[in-house]
Amino acid sequence: MRKKVSVIGAGHVGEVTAFKIAEKELSDVVLLDVIEDMPIGKGLDMLEGGPVGKYDSKIIGTNSYKDTANSDIVVITAGKPRTPGMSRDELVESNFNIVKPVTESVIKHSPNAILIVVSNPLDAMAYTAYKVSGFPKNRVVGMAGILDTTRFCSFIAMELNVSVENIQALVLGGHGDTMVPIVRYTTISGIPLTHFLPQDRIDEIVDRTRKGGGEIVKYLKTGSAYYAPALAVTEMVESIIKDKKKILPCAAYLEGEYDINDLYFGVPVKLGTNGVEEIIEIELTNEEKTAIKNSEQAVRSVIDILKF
Ligand code: NAI
Ligand code: 2OP
Repeated sequence: MRKKVSVIGAGHVGEVTAFKIAEKELSDVVLLDVIEDMPIGKGLDMLEGGPVGKYDSKIIGTNSYKDTANSDIVVITAGKPRTPGMSRDELVESNFNIVKPVTESVIKHSPNAILIVVSNPLDAMAYTAYKVSGFPKNRVVGMAGILDTTRFCSFIAMELNVSVENIQALVLGGHGDTMVPIVRYTTISGIPLTHFLPQDRIDEIVDRTRKGGGEIVKYLKTGSAYYAPALAVTEMVESIIKDKKKILPCAAYLEGEYDINDLYFGVPVKLGTNGVEEIIEIELTNEEKTAIKNSEQAVRSVIDILKF
């Protein structure tokens, strides 16, 4: 039987995500938004691209959660994006008031789904979906680390004039300016990054990565990035639907891993049919541990604001 993925929020990230999933024929797709009729138009437009785009996925847009019933995966992108000068954390109250009722509606119709949360501030919204859904922790996961890592890889590829496919990297921690690109685990075809670049240049690339979301917001002015984010979500959906068991940096619920408890936080996880099937704990230096602690505190200070 065909798999079904629902995408809640048919804005920038939601629509590109829905399109990429359909185009790759990963599943049938339902695109939902509160704005009347808009998702129906977007869904129909994507469906009509099938014959020329050579995909047979069924895509519908809707304003009704009934159409999302029995989804295998639900991607939550509903919420406000930030605008120039704003931090992701400033969205916490307004997006909590969106993600909480969205999660309640989603789980009523898809009690066995895996939830992929995208709305910002990411770690706090993933925590919200986890607490509100009551789902087991393997079935609620946040998208951020893949996006932060693809930015880091892009900047390295640009700097070294090599294929993006040669870069292996890992960005951990909260999805904010305290994120932790792990330079020691960054290689170009297996060769350490430090072989190619001096420390001061690496530091500049790390800094640009940390501020990568803000750099796009500054140019767009009315919203935030969506092409790279949608591709990052699609990679997660593909790994789950095809049970690829890819190891990817995602926000997962931690219970002691990395010495962190009761928090959603970016760590390497194995993604398969059962969602987060394993959290991989890598060895960190004292300096990296300090950076992780700093990021943990930043995420916790946002989550502490939430009232369940
Ligand atoms: P957008 O403004 O283009 O789209 C958001 C959509 O959510 C709108 O169409 C809006 O009508 C809809 N929406 C609002 N309340 C809703 C509700 N109760 N039910 C259903 N739909 C609802 O924003 P964009 O660019 O798509 O970003 C969406 C969210 O994802 C933002 O919070 C943004 O910060 C976040 N984001 C997170 C990323 C990450 O790495 N985790 C990357 C990119 C965006
Ligand atoms: C980003 O990093 C909006 O959080 C999103 O681009």
